[in-house]
Amino acid sequence: MYTKSAAFYDAIYSFKDYGTESARLIALIAAHKRSRGRRLLDVACGTGSHLQHLSKHFEAEGLDASAEQLAIARTKCPGVAFHRGDMIDFDLGREFDVVTCLFSSIGYVKTLPRLKLAVANLARHVCTGGVLIVEPWLLPGSFAPGNIGFRFVDQPNLKISRMEIHCVENNCSVFDEQFMIGTPKGIEFLNERHELGLFTREQYVESFTSLGLATTWDDRGLMGRGLVLGVKL
Ligand SMILES: C[S@@+](CC[C@H](N)C(=O)[O-])C[C@H]1O[C@@H](n2cnc3c(N)ncnc32)[C@H](O)[C@@H]1O
Repeated sequence: MYTKSAAFYDAIYSFKDYGTESARLIALIAAHKRSRGRRLLDVACGTGSHLQHLSKHFEAEGLDASAEQLAIARTKCPGVAFHRGDMIDFDLGREFDVVTCLFSSIGYVKTLPRLKLAVANLARHVCTGGVLIVEPWLLPGSFAPGNIGFRFVDQPNLKISRMEIHCVENNCSVFDEQFMIGTPKGIEFLNERHELGLFTREQYVESFTSLGLATTWDDRGLMGRGLVLGVKL
């Protein structure tokens, strides 16, 4: 996952408005955070597109499991420190005023016990008065098996078609993504399987409240998927 496809990630997700999303995050952080510091950690930061904006307002760092995604993030955000790790068990030995986990990356934990472990580990890196912000994956009722997902990229020297049929297996949404990638060097085929756990809103909220976080569900979120915010008391 996110190895060979990392090179095409930004082209595939060019529809996302990371600037507007980051401005909303900054407003939400200002409304919820009680600690005074400005240390921010973006977990599962991908190619660093939120950090490009957030690092102008915070002492920002990023963490991701994919070396290939991190390599791109490092070139896009030269002043930002990046770490490779798994959200379930990374340990930076430090706390942050803000910890984020965005664009539904949390879904990759797949199971409820692992959701609880990941949220506990994210919260462990939040200081007293700091805020944890997680953008959930789709809720079970809003994921339709049988749908055909597709993305097309049409740039002068890069054409991509990516398709997958949406399936559900063991409470996970499963995507076997088939890429066809055209560059002046030729046409390449790539397959990548993604499995994301389908958790209910109550399961997300409970994973926060069970840790004693003062928890809010924000329906609007960044792109219609909601947000869970928890302040460490
Ligand atoms: C959909 S991308 C989101 C990236 C970025 N947050 C964004 O908004 O563009 C999901 C990211 O989660 C990362 N990821 C998946 N499982 C992970 C894990 N267990 N720990 C850390 N990162 C993980 C992937 O490598 C990938 O970069």
